[in-house]
Amino acid sequence: MVLEEILLHAKKLNYLGKPPVQDHILNAKGFIQTIQELETNLEQVKLVDLGSGGGVPALILIDYFKNWEFILIERKEKRAEFLSWAVKKLNTGKRIEIICDEVENVARSSKYEATVDFVTARSFAPPPTTAECACRFLKKNRYLVVSEPPNTTNRWLNTALNETGLVPLKTTKQENGTFQTLELLEKPGNRLPRRPGVPRKRPLW
Ligand SMILES: C[S@@+](CC[C@H](N)C(=O)[O-])C[C@H]1O[C@@H](n2cnc3c(N)ncnc32)[C@H](O)[C@@H]1O
Repeated sequence: MVLEEILLHAKKLNYLGKPPVQDHILNAKGFIQTIQELETNLEQVKLVDLGSGGGVPALILIDYFKNWEFILIERKEKRAEFLSWAVKKLNTGKRIEIICDEVENVARSSKYEATVDFVTARSFAPPPTTAECACRFLKKNRYLVVSEPPNTTNRWLNTALNETGLVPLKTTKQENGTFQTLELLEKPGNRLPRRPGVPRKRPLW
């Protein structure tokens, strides 16, 4: 299976963590299940994946949602090159864009502002940074879906989240992980996201 071969290559390059490739695929399937439980109209969807690295969950989602448009953002050049190689191998045509840049820069481009239905993040950053980086991409009433580390309590409840316009919607325990979904209810504050590195250095909470 092409997808598995690609992820094995990612693992060889040390772009994926210790667990076997099958575990990464299963975790990505948890994203698919979470997304499917949210949305009834899954036509004409655009999804941004933050910090795509070795391609989880992005490549698995690309392979599953065959008509969706995807934007994969990764600041490290070698990883972005790997992702370009991978989508070519998956034969996805023109529906995938890979951007090698800081997410904070891409999020401030008017080309992407409020154009996206889903933002996904796995092992990208702690909640305040992830929320700050994700919020400006989303259309109103659309979703940020984040894979949560094991045994966490609610990491998203803080009044500082209000500035992003995001509100925690639900925590979904799937067979292969826990996923937090947030919905964009208000336009994010004008200053968000701040310039690259600041969301991580000076988190909103
Ligand atoms: C720990 S890896 C996780 C990769 C993948 N999502 C996974 O779960 O296997 C985090 C990735 O996010 C990228 N990254 C972190 N902060 C970023 C930022 N502000 N802009 C773009 N990429 C970023 C890193 O270069 C790295 O490849």
